Amino acid sequence: MEPRSWSVGELAAAAGLSVRVLRHWDALGVVSPVRTPSGHRRYGPAEVTRLYQALALRRTGLPLDRIADLLSARDATPAATLRAHLDRIERDLARTQRMRDRLAEALDAIDNPPVSGEEDVLMKVIASMTMFEGYVHGHRPIEHTRLADQADTLTRLLHADTGYPAGARVLEVGCGVGAQTATLARLSPGAHITSVDVSAAALEQARRRLAGTDHEATVEFVQADVTRLPHDDGPLEENGFDHVFVCFLLEHLTDPLEVLIRLRRMLRPAGTLTVIEGDHGSAYFHPDSSAARDAIACQIALQQRAGGDALIGRRLRPLIAEAGYTDIAVAPRTVYVDADHPDLVEGFTRRTFTAMIAGVREPAIAAGLTTPAHFDAGIADLLRTTETDGTFHYTFFKATAHL
Ligand SMILES: C[S@@+](CC[C@H](N)C(=O)[O-])C[C@H]1O[C@@H](n2cnc3c(N)ncnc32)[C@H](O)[C@@H]1O
Repeated sequence: MEPRSWSVGELAAAAGLSVRVLRHWDALGVVSPVRTPSGHRRYGPAEVTRLYQALALRRTGLPLDRIADLLSARDATPAATLRAHLDRIERDLARTQRMRDRLAEALDAIDNPPVSGEEDVLMKVIASMTMFEGYVHGHRPIEHTRLADQADTLTRLLHADTGYPAGARVLEVGCGVGAQTATLARLSPGAHITSVDVSAAALEQARRRLAGTDHEATVEFVQADVTRLPHDDGPLEENGFDHVFVCFLLEHLTDPLEVLIRLRRMLRPAGTLTVIEGDHGSAYFHPDSSAARDAIACQIALQQRAGGDALIGRRLRPLIAEAGYTDIAVAPRTVYVDADHPDLVEGFTRRTFTAMIAGVREPAIAAGLTTPAHFDAGIADLLRTTETDGTFHYTFFKATAHL
């Protein structure tokens, strides 16, 4: 008697999965059924057993390619694979613990207000919550305008060598208001770009930015948290992309290494990673000013309290190497501004860098890092560098790597 077998639809219904997931798992070699002469998938008892083993491993969050290797006995060091996975879970737990502690601190400030008055408490709690959100710049309209100015000004410097071939699937994470997305789409005609951000407000701006342009059809915006990728199903599933693009995101994350490791799982074999980040330690200017340096230090400190790193540019190579990528190349991209470059005076020194530092005024004061007068003096001195005898210097770092 022929052993009992099931179609993909029957098994999907029995296992509580979608047909799409089972097809994807077949393509990755996690569970590959036999095919009938007409090409239909048939799952026998051995494949059903394997599916339940895969599901058990998947519930621990293990990546699909690792599951496929483990179940096919292709993994020469299964214990090491599982131990590395345990380490990742422990890092996740530590991050959740840090979030819990920040929330507890914020609530403690509400429960035990200082004698200085209620307004003070409210400001401190708001500052704490801003940090708790983990994104120091926030999502006010003025910040969205700043990101757009930044992208326009820096396009040539950062993207002269960016571009993906027609047909390639590109994942952009932390796309914000779509400022880099528009450039990516323009430089990669025919590529399909999936752009992800955790903020619905930023994504709405991004959608509006591309609406009615030639690129509307090739870019898909999806709201998602990069620390929770990949998704089991849908446009953000594992191994779904040829290229990953990250710009000004890692500096805001509590555990950029963990995210870089997650992003590897999004890539297909031979996939590439591109990361662009700044480093506020590279900002120096004439006339020099300790008040201006103190204002920049407020931004660095707030970002650090939020779990980020405004000095991450210098760490890109070691981070990407530790995450397991190969063929890493990092290029410094320096913006040097003086009166001979009025577009950069306006677009970079004034509307990008100084606007970004000015944006942390309230939380910096509320957190006790500065006084209103000292902070404002710092901003005035940064603006002073935009006069005809002033200069400004900042270095971004652009890294590329392979899986
Ligand atoms: C400085 S903006 C950069 C935006 C864009 N890449 C650009 O260069 O214009 C950082 C973006 O990362 C997003 N972000 C922060 N944490 C995130 C997370 N965990 N998952 C997805 N997006 C995140 C923020 O909402 C914000 O839009």
